[in-house]
Amino acid sequence: MADPQEVLAARVRAALAAAFGAEYADADPVIRPSAFADYQANVALPLAKQLGRPPREVAAEIAGHLEVADVCDTAEVSGPGFINFSLRRDWIAAEATALLGDPRLGVPAADPPDTVVVDYSGPNVAKELHAGHLRATVQGDAIARILEQLGYVVVRAAHLGDWGTQFGMLIEHTLDVGEETARKQLAAGEFTPFYQAARAEFDSDPEFADRARRRVPLLQSGDPESRRLWQVLVAGSMDYLMALYRRLDIKLTEATMAPESFYNSMLADVNAELERDGIAVISEGALCAFPPGFTGRDGAPIPLILRKSDGGYGYDTTDVAAIRYRLVDLHARRIIYVVGSEQSLHLQMVFAVAREAGWLTDGASAEHAVIGLMTGPGGKRLKTRTGEQVKLSELIDEAVERAGRVIADRYDDPAERDQIAEAVGVGALKYADLSVGRESSYVLDFDRMLALTGNTGPYLQYATARIRSIFRKAGLDPAQVDHALQLAEDPERALALAALKFGSAVAQAGRTAEPHVLAGFLFDVASTFTTFYELCPVLGAPTPELRDSRLALCALALRILTAGLGMLGIPVPERM
Ligand code: ARG
Repeated sequence: MADPQEVLAARVRAALAAAFGAEYADADPVIRPSAFADYQANVALPLAKQLGRPPREVAAEIAGHLEVADVCDTAEVSGPGFINFSLRRDWIAAEATALLGDPRLGVPAADPPDTVVVDYSGPNVAKELHAGHLRATVQGDAIARILEQLGYVVVRAAHLGDWGTQFGMLIEHTLDVGEETARKQLAAGEFTPFYQAARAEFDSDPEFADRARRRVPLLQSGDPESRRLWQVLVAGSMDYLMALYRRLDIKLTEATMAPESFYNSMLADVNAELERDGIAVISEGALCAFPPGFTGRDGAPIPLILRKSDGGYGYDTTDVAAIRYRLVDLHARRIIYVVGSEQSLHLQMVFAVAREAGWLTDGASAEHAVIGLMTGPGGKRLKTRTGEQVKLSELIDEAVERAGRVIADRYDDPAERDQIAEAVGVGALKYADLSVGRESSYVLDFDRMLALTGNTGPYLQYATARIRSIFRKAGLDPAQVDHALQLAEDPERALALAALKFGSAVAQAGRTAEPHVLAGFLFDVASTFTTFYELCPVLGAPTPELRDSRLALCALALRILTAGLGMLGIPVPERM
């Protein structure tokens, strides 16, 4: 445990128990960063109210029982009843030195290593990913990476929409244009023309419409030829999706993403189980679940439709089958649905049915990690000049192109420039999204995300590149540096202190599924590094010991920034 806030919390809890009795051993000591010291404990104020005593007196009593001499220079009562803590420099130095020798850099390891399913991105076959998919894609991937680094067994799922009545029409259209042509068109991401052409045939040609309708039950009942043609649509879309994911370094793969069709063979069983247990009932010819507590405006219960009156299955059914599979077969202890708020009701109902059915038990959790919107200027929906949705690929192209212009004058070699522009553009786009709380909405702003100062991807990338250049100049490998730290100047102390909080930042980001917590921490490390770099010469340090210590501090900052950016899925170029 390196995070000073946690160390102090434990000491204050011990003091509370010693002063007021064991029942206070779990009280929240309310430790906060302080403007006058490093930290302050505010617990005396609420506690005084509870005890009916003056807060300063309570604070003094806590302080009297505190044992912090090894950690703090001072622990003093101040103001109306705060306790201010100033950490010892040698304590920070020793903790930071230990961190440098720790391959996990203070990141705790889950015990036991539970299985966590992260369901994200929300793609569909034969539909492009548009700008609106950016948030659910990069946030979900970062959440998965963070949990993986915390030692959980992470299953990345996408619940790819590859099932439904529109496939009758799309299959017949595939037959008409030819399989090869269809596949190529989809792999190239030309979904809109493909879909529109199919739709036009459907609307204008009764014979086609008839074929399309008859195709649906054939496909759903497993007719081999229909499955084969459907597979052409899936494969073309998959080529397109995977190319986009590769470019964004999103670690979803076809093998793990568990499309809706994956659950096809389970749907009848799931429904039978729910019907047997009285959770699903026939209503107006359809099989429905009415989880308690979900009613419409008129007070009537809202159904999840598990089997339509025509015998077909839909989105509700596959989601119910998916949650059972994840809990009962994969033994997931936590499922995180990284999905927009418009699906909140649907997901809450799925969770409720899982609870009623006994699949979702007390030790496990299903969470909707709500995703806000990325919008155009004025909070309006992002649109092209012709009023269409902006494709995600176009958004990436523009970020990369603009990144190229920002950094152009630094590189003579065009290949190197393109490579760095790709990393900077993609990194800027992803980081701009990840640094905003996932429930919030924000306005797309290329100039701001590409700025080399402020809380941006390029700023963080640049900090790592600067550190690497110090090591290049010194002819040293930063991975080999492990000197003990001595913290001579305040900026060194500030940087080492910031570094100590890495583990708890990662743990918190994982606990709440909020990558922006980690982003904010990394920005803090990069900013304290920048101040240190400007004020404390490293290679030109006054003594050889201080030079070694400062190199070690640089190595620590580099390792934390690289590991942290890796958890966010931000590329880290070696040079910039
Ligand atoms: N494909 C879905 C859509 O486009 C999103 C899937 C979200 N995940 C889930 N388990 N429902 O809306």
